Amino acid sequence: MKSKQHIGTSVVHAGVPAPEQGHPFVESPTFASTYHLSGDTENAQHQYARFSNPTWQALETGLSELEGGETVIFPSGMAAAAAILSSLVSSGDTLVLPADGYFATRAYALEFLTPNGVNVQLVPTLELLDFDYTHVRMVLIETPSNPLLDVVDISALSAKVHAAGGLLAIDNTTLTMLGQQPLALGADISMAADTKALNGHSDVVFGHVSAKDTTLIERIRLWRKLAGNIPGPMETWLVHRGLATLDLRLERMTASAQQVAEMLVQHSAVKYLRYPGLTSDPSHAIAQKQMDHFGFIISFDLSSQALADKFLQTCSILFEATSFGGVHTMAERRARWGTDDVPEGLVRLSVGCERVEDILAGIEKALAGLED
Ligand SMILES: Cc1ncc(COP(=O)(O)O)c(C=O)c1O
Repeated sequence: MKSKQHIGTSVVHAGVPAPEQGHPFVESPTFASTYHLSGDTENAQHQYARFSNPTWQALETGLSELEGGETVIFPSGMAAAAAILSSLVSSGDTLVLPADGYFATRAYALEFLTPNGVNVQLVPTLELLDFDYTHVRMVLIETPSNPLLDVVDISALSAKVHAAGGLLAIDNTTLTMLGQQPLALGADISMAADTKALNGHSDVVFGHVSAKDTTLIERIRLWRKLAGNIPGPMETWLVHRGLATLDLRLERMTASAQQVAEMLVQHSAVKYLRYPGLTSDPSHAIAQKQMDHFGFIISFDLSSQALADKFLQTCSILFEATSFGGVHTMAERRARWGTDDVPEGLVRLSVGCERVEDILAGIEKALAGLED
């Protein structure tokens, strides 16, 4: 019997065409908006580019295999979240979101769903397992949460939500399917902003949604087709290209993040630090149970806005940016947006693919400079 290959191997081959003599190893993007279409439309593979596209199909095939559920791609992570919420939640339904997750998902729900009769409940990540889900239609959470990295037991939460008749969706952006498999853990839907680690090169905005239940995914696909919220072929092709090195990049980034977190947590300038890979972290036990790596994001408090800003401006190894998951180490002071309830000095650091000795040296030098 053929043994099951590691997902890190599958990611290299995902969605790549079967070998055919004289055919390209990897297909190029298809830019057509229009396809030859005469007579009976049912049997035409591609009819019009808002409905389907061969470049989408290749990436969706690969992501479906990796997620363990059928996948629909979107032009951004927020388009993926909006597709889930707009197609599966209606007036009169109750929607539960984390009070401390990515702010734009909350903002979308409060701006566009609350006025249309959806009861939006915001629950702190650490209280999700104690919440009463009676009459809740949908729960869309992040684990680890962004930016404070609290981890929720997906199996336990899915049992609770399902017992009450609801649907559980996981935003898996911070780990990707190589770090956590939401569908295998019992969630109904797995989504991600592929803008981050999955593409990994900070050059594309993208997202996807996966589900095992075909009725859910067909509804989401229909929403994409009718709302016209479709990804471009070039972006799709670039994400597929980035996907092949996801395991390789994550191996470097997560191993380096562990070393950086171990250095930072000992440092006198760091007041508070979260990284699920540290045995001292409140999330460590559950992270070890359900995650295959501990991620590349570290959140730490440098006590004040002034010290955090000085660190960010003087740390030569990192770029200041409001993103994460790319090959470049980047960081920001999260409170600068005024959207997250976090300390003024909280830095969210995304460890990249540079050599770890240079990352450690750059950070240590900038921290030493805070004492001047
Ligand atoms: C956890 C999470 N989900 C969704 C999004 C939205 O993704 P995008 O910026 O691609 O719309 C982000 C963006 O930062 C995110 O961090």
